[in-house]
Amino acid sequence: MAKLILGANRGIGLEITRQLCQRGENVIATARTASDELRASGAEVHEGIDVARHDTLRSLAASLTGRPLDWVLVVSGLMSVQRLGELDETAVEGIRAQFETNALGPLMAAEILTPLLGNGSKLGILTSRMGSIEDNTSGNSYGYRMSKAAVNMAAASLAHDLAPRGIAVALLHPGWVRTDMTRHSGLIDPPESAAAIIERMDHVGLEDSGRFWHAPNREILPW
Ligand SMILES: NC(=O)c1ccc[n+]([C@@H]2O[C@H](COP(=O)([O-])OP(=O)(O)OC[C@H]3O[C@@H](n4cnc5c(N)ncnc54)[C@H](OP(=O)(O)O)[C@@H]3O)[C@@H](O)[C@H]2O)c1
Repeated sequence: MAKLILGANRGIGLEITRQLCQRGENVIATARTASDELRASGAEVHEGIDVARHDTLRSLAASLTGRPLDWVLVVSGLMSVQRLGELDETAVEGIRAQFETNALGPLMAAEILTPLLGNGSKLGILTSRMGSIEDNTSGNSYGYRMSKAAVNMAAASLAHDLAPRGIAVALLHPGWVRTDMTRHSGLIDPPESAAAIIERMDHVGLEDSGRFWHAPNREILPW
């Protein structure tokens, strides 16, 4: 069985890939253009995979035919900030791009790649607590918040729709992590976040499929 990581080029996805390789897993990792760090990870790397371009997901699925997977983990994500009062055409394009990558990307990855998963396997999606409506105490970040709320809803539906095939869904907030996305501000580093995500993926099952986890705290977040 192999574990497929989408968006493994840098940040949290790279670290998840490294840690899985270190524990001896068979890891298939994707990137748009692979970094030297990803090439050195020990994973089987597939380049040219853009979650916002569904033809590339279909090519990936075709190249993996006959390769049983036990995880599909969608890590890829995009963040930019749009503020009320500044929502011009450029801002709207930024919001649309985040929907394509953060919401439609994981949904289409589920559509195209979960046929490679069997009974007892898992689909993981990296989301954010910024997609929690109840947890929104500061506003702003329209595209990121809306796209992550949308992927949360997609995952809740996927948990229902994939249950008859024995596939569990984990919706994972990785913590506030020092990566390029946060301009290296945050509370934890990628190794701690990656270890927590792997731990959640190891333990999630059909009984808790579709839950919205704060992975490092092992807490369930409000919608
Ligand atoms: N860091 C945090 O504090 C934090 C908090 C909450 C949630 N998250 C979520 O955790 C995930 C990983 O974030 P990170 O902090 O590791 O971010 P990052 O360092 O900015 O890395 C983002 C990764 O996503 C890939 N990516 C972006 N758009 C893509 C696309 N269209 N197709 C394929 N890959 C794409 C990037 O590839 P390229 O190198 O090709 O750009 C890169 O590998 C994201 O979903 C993010 O929203 C992060």
